[in-house]
Amino acid sequence: MITKVYGCALNGIDAQLITVEVNINRGAKIYMVGLPDNAVKESHQRISAALQNVGFRIPVKEITINLAPANIKKEGSAYDLPIAVAILTASNQINNIDQIQDYIIMGELALDGIIRSIKGVLSIASYAKEHGFKGVILSSNNAKEAALIKGIDVYGAENIMEIIQHFNGGLKMYKTDRTPLLPQKKTFELDFNEVKGQKQVKRALEIAAAGNHNILLIGPPGSGKSMLAKRLPGILPPLSINEAIETTKIYSISGLINSEDGVINKRPFRSPHHTVSNVALSGGGSNPMPGEISLSHNGVLFLDELPEFKRGALEVLRQPIEDRRITISRTRKSIDYPANFMLVGAMNPSPNGGFYDLDLERPEELYKIKRYLNKLSGPLLDRIDIQIEVLPVSFEDLSKETVEETSLSVQKRVINSRNKQVSRYKKFKIYNNAQLTPSLMEIYCKLDNESLLLLEKATEKMNLSARSFTRIKKVARTIADLDSSKYIQVKHIAEAIQYRKLDRLKL
Ligand SMILES: Nc1ncnc2c1ncn2[C@@H]1O[C@H](COP(=O)(O)OP(=O)(O)O)[C@@H](O)[C@H]1O
Ligand SMILES: [Mg+2]
Repeated sequence: MITKVYGCALNGIDAQLITVEVNINRGAKIYMVGLPDNAVKESHQRISAALQNVGFRIPVKEITINLAPANIKKEGSAYDLPIAVAILTASNQINNIDQIQDYIIMGELALDGIIRSIKGVLSIASYAKEHGFKGVILSSNNAKEAALIKGIDVYGAENIMEIIQHFNGGLKMYKTDRTPLLPQKKTFELDFNEVKGQKQVKRALEIAAAGNHNILLIGPPGSGKSMLAKRLPGILPPLSINEAIETTKIYSISGLINSEDGVINKRPFRSPHHTVSNVALSGGGSNPMPGEISLSHNGVLFLDELPEFKRGALEVLRQPIEDRRITISRTRKSIDYPANFMLVGAMNPSPNGGFYDLDLERPEELYKIKRYLNKLSGPLLDRIDIQIEVLPVSFEDLSKETVEETSLSVQKRVINSRNKQVSRYKKFKIYNNAQLTPSLMEIYCKLDNESLLLLEKATEKMNLSARSFTRIKKVARTIADLDSSKYIQVKHIAEAIQYRKLDRLKL
């Protein structure tokens, strides 16, 4: 008789069903088929030791283990547990196969029978829920994370013995309580109110947050760019439940969830160094993993010293900025990871620090800056709506006792204007102003004569490209939303023009 136990493989952030089939015959050999990699092939050695150490065994018979479907590659050590349970059931050491088949079972076995945690359990638990399984059986270290999914039973076992007893009518395993998804607390570890002054930059970040605009901070070292950028996740709207689940799935398959929290419930902030490899940024590799852009999903990707990044790395960002996901091609199949991030770039205005102290009238100075800025990828710059200069706050102002606005208070306005955008664009399947297409801009970014005149004048004076024109209108739309104005007014356009620092340099 063939015994079947259910497990899962991961494909991107989704799980797929894998059936572990075990057949026992006369003989004395173990066969493993169904595209297992080396780690899976070695599992019977781990299983053998683990079972012996808890008083059970792999029978000396001919055992065929098939991992179906055969066309999906089975990678890693997470199949130890379902294979062990299938062997125990096929050799009548565990009873109640019907009950076992109600669960998805996954975990790595240590030689002493301890069940080790694995990656991607949230995706596995969602699969179990969506496909009518009663629940999942995993390592106790993975239980909290799996328990984010409502409506299934999550059993976390420390040792394989607990699972054997559970099904053989001995001591029952505890069901893990549901993990609360969203954070209870309302204060932020990094609060906007810690940044003194910088009114204009804070305003620009608020607009960026409100319209989901990518933003570039240009300023000398020490002017507070990193400090400001790190506080951006705290003024973005709190994660919704679906966003939290999706982001947690990405961290889970990357092995970055700790068993205490079991959940990512704050918007991520990632800041890869400029020497980051393309693969580390985009994801992929021989044992494919999400990259920094996916770890920033639903949060902020901060690229400090933007011109220092290799051109190739920045080019990698183009597709995900448009599609909000990344597709990684592999020889056998392609993998898709979500990558919906807000991009925040930071840079020095010139190779050696500031440009506010440079004499832009001197051709050699201008040339130096030009060469430095040319390192920025044009197509990437085109996707950044707001460019703003960050000037250092004077020592005097830094030492003054001032009361600055909290992140919570800024966040309220951001949420308010985001809600307006969501309801306005509902039928178009976009959520914010940054996503406006040219045809939607025709409808929602109409300008009155006065605004049009101002924009034309500015375009002429600043020698703006058609692209800057579009950016300004989108940003003006967000400024109007923050102002609760149905239409874009001349003051909104005037402010939006301020956020084109690089264009205004006329380089
Ligand atoms: N506006 C400010 N309010 C309070 N502290 C500031 C401000 N600007 C700079 N600082 C202090 O200076 C430090 C350096 O700022 P940082 O954000 O690292 O600058 P940058 O990234 O532009 O080089 C900060 O960690 C902070 O302690
Ligand atoms: Mg910095």
